[in-house]
Amino acid sequence: ASTLGAAAAQSGRYFGAAISTSHLGEAAYVNTWTAEFTGVTPENEMKWATVEPNRNQFNFGPADQIVSQARSRGMKIRGHTLVWHGQLAGWVSGLDASNLRSAMQNHISQVAGHWKGQLYAWDVVNEAFEENGTRRQSVFQQKLGDGYIEDAFRAARTADPNAKLCYNDYNIDGVNAKSTGIYTMVRDFKSRGVPIDCVGFQSHLGSNSTLSSYQANLQRFADLGVDVQITELDVGGSGSGQANVYRQVTQACMAVSRCTGITVWGVTDKYSWRSSDTPLLFDGNYGKKQAYTAVLDVLGGG
Ligand code: G3I
Repeated sequence: ASTLGAAAAQSGRYFGAAISTSHLGEAAYVNTWTAEFTGVTPENEMKWATVEPNRNQFNFGPADQIVSQARSRGMKIRGHTLVWHGQLAGWVSGLDASNLRSAMQNHISQVAGHWKGQLYAWDVVNEAFEENGTRRQSVFQQKLGDGYIEDAFRAARTADPNAKLCYNDYNIDGVNAKSTGIYTMVRDFKSRGVPIDCVGFQSHLGSNSTLSSYQANLQRFADLGVDVQITELDVGGSGSGQANVYRQVTQACMAVSRCTGITVWGVTDKYSWRSSDTPLLFDGNYGKKQAYTAVLDVLGGG
């Protein structure tokens, strides 16, 4: 296999990239995406501020552009994200508890319902924990309390019963206080029958990231009976240092049978959210970097 997607498919996994509607007019961008990747996450287009900028007024157009191209190529699509404090529409923050509860339920039912049956997975709730493992004091947490996360998962299951429902977060790239807080929540959800299917590890990393418990951490979640995915991988740096971190992350996923796929957070360094870190697999001219070769090698391609 000579592409990331084809190599990943040899072990039944997908290899995805975050894609922005704003670059779909650039041939090299689209060609690299469709040649190399078998999965996609809309980078911003499914976020609350974009899809429901005003209450009960929905704007699915930008994300639909990505979804239709991805579906025509049989890609796995990760929906990102239903409930997050970031890129939240302004009107949401001003609601009282009972209005916020019904707005959240309506948002999930309308948005997940719009793409019902079309997505591989949803990041139902994103970044709800603090570094110390306690709940982040978002507007959802403050007004609705701990129960909002399980309420969101139940609403998502109702809206799209076939999508895998994930919790997604960053700085959980090993066994630490934050990943343990999330682990405890997932264990509780599984024991009480709250519908959760997967945990997403964003993995925004650097060349000096320590990954000594990365694989063990993926495995302990998998052992709870959920799939795991690397959802927003990027690694600051260049050359062999960067390639080695990409190699270790890919090896960890390959070693965990319930690690079903890897998504990098963009195609080219040119359009990365952290472009000064040159964190992706393709340089600004769409040339393959050393990191690309390392990942392809670990996936069994070449
Ligand atoms: O759309 C406007 C555009 O109209 C305006 O001209 C321009 C001027 O700055 O801004 C545009 O919006 C930007 C948007 O990206 C689209 O490019 C926002 O300012 C910018 O803040 C936003 O950044 C996104 C960021 O999330 C916001 O939190 C990044 O693209 C996106 O990569 C990043 O993704 C997040 C994940 O969703 C969650 N995990 C962390 C990850 C990295 O921060």
